[in-house]
Amino acid sequence: MPVVLGKAPGKVILFGEHAVVFGRPAIAIPVTKVNASARIFPNLQGQPGQINIQAQAISLDADLEDLPNDHPLAKAIQITLSAVAPHHIPALTIQVDSSIPVAGGMGSSAAVSVAIIRALSAFLGGSLSPEEISELAFEVEKLHHGTPSGIDNNVIAHQKPVYFIKNQPIQFLQIDQPTHWVLGDTGEKTPTRETVLAVRALHGSDAPRFEIVFDQIGALTDGAQTALKAGDLTELGWLMNENQRLLEKLNVSSPTLEALIQAARGAGAAGAKLSGGGRGGNMIALAESENIAMVEKAIINAGAVRTITTKLAEGGVS
Ligand code: PMV
Repeated sequence: MPVVLGKAPGKVILFGEHAVVFGRPAIAIPVTKVNASARIFPNLQGQPGQINIQAQAISLDADLEDLPNDHPLAKAIQITLSAVAPHHIPALTIQVDSSIPVAGGMGSSAAVSVAIIRALSAFLGGSLSPEEISELAFEVEKLHHGTPSGIDNNVIAHQKPVYFIKNQPIQFLQIDQPTHWVLGDTGEKTPTRETVLAVRALHGSDAPRFEIVFDQIGALTDGAQTALKAGDLTELGWLMNENQRLLEKLNVSSPTLEALIQAARGAGAAGAKLSGGGRGGNMIALAESENIAMVEKAIINAGAVRTITTKLAEGGVS
């Protein structure tokens, strides 16, 4: 049997993070410059059913049966085996790699799950649709994040820009005009689970007040759908800045994020905001094509550990 490779991109949320956990819409796009991969090798020396998993980044080299059931990689493998229900499982090795920054709001956990599910199902001769892959990855996301909205597994499994509302059919965004997005990584790693819990506690302290904030974020996200299609930088920039103001009210911003956001705006970005769970992780800025280098430089000078620039264009992302 040949080696089978499964890949999955990173992702970035453009609008609506946190509010999406409370039923409001969010918009996310795949980021194909970074990705997770899973390679499956037949293990000719192994016993049938023996599955070895290797992930160098987390110093993991173990057999599936020796991993706890709630280990995210074990879970991704087990749910794929249940979904494909193969008659026979040959001895195999799964090698996992990822260039997606961990705990940086770029969907590294969902991408690793999607890569494993894709590779293993293909290796075992099963054919899973993007919806099925997304649903399986969602089960693993629950181990990582507790109560995830499901946006990460959806955008990553479909590899298309999405307009997402929890528990509703996914909608894909039509893009007529390209836009350029610069991500700046603060280098600070705050688990999404932590910020989601913090927002839940804040909401619990004054639900009517925060429901209004979530509604306002939802309205911005709705506005962004049309502006994105048309590539309207002025409108998108305004919407991003407003979204950032509301995220600050949710107390998920941080001085480092704000330094990068200010630097991007100062360098001429149309708008900038944090992206993902917040209190660290990434911010995102919208730049004109001729201004990308300036914005990248300003973000680095303000302390970012890296920038990643992605183009959102007709038919997806490049
Ligand atoms: O970008 P991430 O993986 O940090 O996701 C954060 C998005 C949240 O809305 C905060 C949580 C969620 O499950 O949607």
